[in-house]
Amino acid sequence: MDHEHEYRPVYQTSLVDPDEFWSTAAQSIDWDVEPTQIVDTTDKRSARWFPDGRLNTSVNVLDRHVAAGTVAEGGRADQAALISISAMTGETTVYTYEELLAEVARFAGAMRDLGVTTGDRVVIYLPMIAEAVIAMLACARIGAVHSVVFGGFAPPELAARIDDAEPVLIITASGGLEPTRRVEYPPIVMAALDLAATNSVRTVIVKQRPQFPTIEFPAPQPATDVLPSSEQTIAARWVDFDAAIANAEPAEPVSLAATDPLYILYTSGTTGKPKGVVRDNGGHAVALDWSMRNVYDVGPGQVMWAASDVGWVVGHSYIVYGPLLVGATTILYEGKPVGTPDAGAFWRIVEEHGVRVLFTAPTALRAIRRADPEASFAKRADLSGMRALFCAGERLDPATFQWASEVLLGDYPDIPVIDHWWQTETGWPICGNPLGLQQLPVKSGSSSVPIPGYRLRVLDANGNPVPAGVEGNIVIGLPLPPGALTGLWRDRDRFVASYLAAFPGHYLSGDSGYFDEDGYLFVLGRSDDVINIAGHRISTGSIEAAIAGHDAIAECAVVGVADDIKGTLPLAYVVLKQGVEVEPDQLRAELIERVRGQIGAIAPLSDAIIVTGLPKTRSGKILRKTIRQLTAGEHPETPATIEDPSVLTALADRILALSNPGRFETESGAGSDDVATTLGTPTP
Ligand code: COA
Ligand code: AMP
Repeated sequence: MDHEHEYRPVYQTSLVDPDEFWSTAAQSIDWDVEPTQIVDTTDKRSARWFPDGRLNTSVNVLDRHVAAGTVAEGGRADQAALISISAMTGETTVYTYEELLAEVARFAGAMRDLGVTTGDRVVIYLPMIAEAVIAMLACARIGAVHSVVFGGFAPPELAARIDDAEPVLIITASGGLEPTRRVEYPPIVMAALDLAATNSVRTVIVKQRPQFPTIEFPAPQPATDVLPSSEQTIAARWVDFDAAIANAEPAEPVSLAATDPLYILYTSGTTGKPKGVVRDNGGHAVALDWSMRNVYDVGPGQVMWAASDVGWVVGHSYIVYGPLLVGATTILYEGKPVGTPDAGAFWRIVEEHGVRVLFTAPTALRAIRRADPEASFAKRADLSGMRALFCAGERLDPATFQWASEVLLGDYPDIPVIDHWWQTETGWPICGNPLGLQQLPVKSGSSSVPIPGYRLRVLDANGNPVPAGVEGNIVIGLPLPPGALTGLWRDRDRFVASYLAAFPGHYLSGDSGYFDEDGYLFVLGRSDDVINIAGHRISTGSIEAAIAGHDAIAECAVVGVADDIKGTLPLAYVVLKQGVEVEPDQLRAELIERVRGQIGAIAPLSDAIIVTGLPKTRSGKILRKTIRQLTAGEHPETPATIEDPSVLTALADRILALSNPGRFETESGAGSDDVATTLGTPTP
């Protein structure tokens, strides 16, 4: 093997000489102004990558591939850039690079005509239709900062994001197609605008889909007529997407500083208030381009399918930006792994479109396994063109790994099943098996080794490294590599408190785990109050806030319990207000509906159990870790700080009386305040 492409030396160089490593990687990007400085670590806590470089991300994903000519000429102009497949409508639409560029430039022109300028925020609340990709790239073209909100979130979650980002524009659609129902988006946007405190939104653009009733809008007006003349904002103006682009001239790309924000993506913190992760332009382009080639082993002309949603970081990085940066073809899929129409949906697409790398969440594989345990659909398809099956979003549990490797891909021993670990905050993998560099042996239950750029450590509660095999807090030494978050939107204090305060010089991932003797990382779970439902990251704090709003509830605690398909489901313990009497089944139904209405259908409350009290510390903090342990059937020690031990005894008795406590899972950690929480591991 070529020494330069072996994992170890490359990893070492990335840490010892990051300037050399990332300046080489940066050569794959087209810069308007080449960076002369690679990283500015004056403030090590938020490194600025390529600080004097200038570029435009949409040029790097589109224009440069078109300018290089057709495939025959060495470019990508006539190659498929985006294949948009809807299992819900049965339609497939292919955009070549040239066609996608034309759509993006025209929509960017339409936004500019509506008064959107560089630095403005634009909320994108769309289902999985091509317009979502077009809208994101159009924002990148004019330097507007997009903030995509997952279509499954309910009005209060959308409103919280609108209030924080203060967008001038919202882009939505008449609706999204779910297997059980049609979700109309405009009423959700209207409800969110009613809830939001900000009056920043001047325009709402709606993409009308033929599956939904047509909405009549007045023709879009020139920008001066649309914009409010004073601070007293009028209600947002609603504009039809197709009418807006009808007369728009294509917009030229705007040259941006590498450190200018490309997007804000909100993710769950330990409280109900989402965190606005900010991504820059330059570091993001360099890191994603590098990861496509070196982690996923996907390059020009090859097909990558990240079966996620553009509302999540996986969708941002590996449906939209990553594949297009390297001139690959990406697939956008509206549908589910099962039931639309069957458990063969993924494998038919892989065969038909020659997918080289499929990226999905373990929960999707579990759903497929339940529907088709023998993987008969996969066996009927020709999957031989696949390089690998990548999983992330949650830990790839050994049982699912084994089924995927031995049953699903049993006929293809050369196609590895790769677990890799990352977060919204990092934007690209922290740990994985770097197939493009060197394919390492795969270990069940492990997300393999640290990816170049990430200095990983596992620390105990005192900040000391723990030996191999011992669980602790997984942290990343600063500075974070390019592409990782540069901060939280307009909230420096929260950025520091959430990630940097616990272990000086390190970023706290919020996950706990251990390294084995070979340097493979095993991620075991969150050490804070975040749970992962079907690969969706949700804070128990936001679910508690929804429940606490019910008239009958005095207080509550939400913990995660194991679910065969979705990994984790939320379970609530509730204490009633004094003197209130309720019918438990009715209360349960009302709380389930409340959580659905406040957060979204993606947060299905598994149960609500009425208890007489919740164990607390003397300072009034709910002892969530103890509650989790009891729920999991463990016998936790009574914490020294407990206010009233009899409350704990009563709760333990109540849980024991429940029919099936054994199904509950353990999660470690404690604390619901919005500061970093860490795992207390004994000092070795
Ligand atoms: N817009 C509106 N509603 C949405 C939605 C969206 N974008 N996505 C999900 N929902 C709704 C669903 O309609 C469903 O509503 P219902 O309770 O009224 O039926 C609810 O949210 C739950 O949806 P989902 O989590 O998709 O569960 P499911 O039972 O329909 O399907 C799986 C189960 C495992 C197939 C599905 O969860 C899945 O594919 N998960 C993979 C997730 C993933 O890829 N995550 C990204 C991580 S990389
Ligand atoms: P998100 O920010 O929504 O991508 O969620 C990130 C979180 O999901 C991580 O902090 C982990 O808790 C979990 N996660 C994602 N991928 C993995 C993985 N491969 N193994 C274990 N946990 C994972």
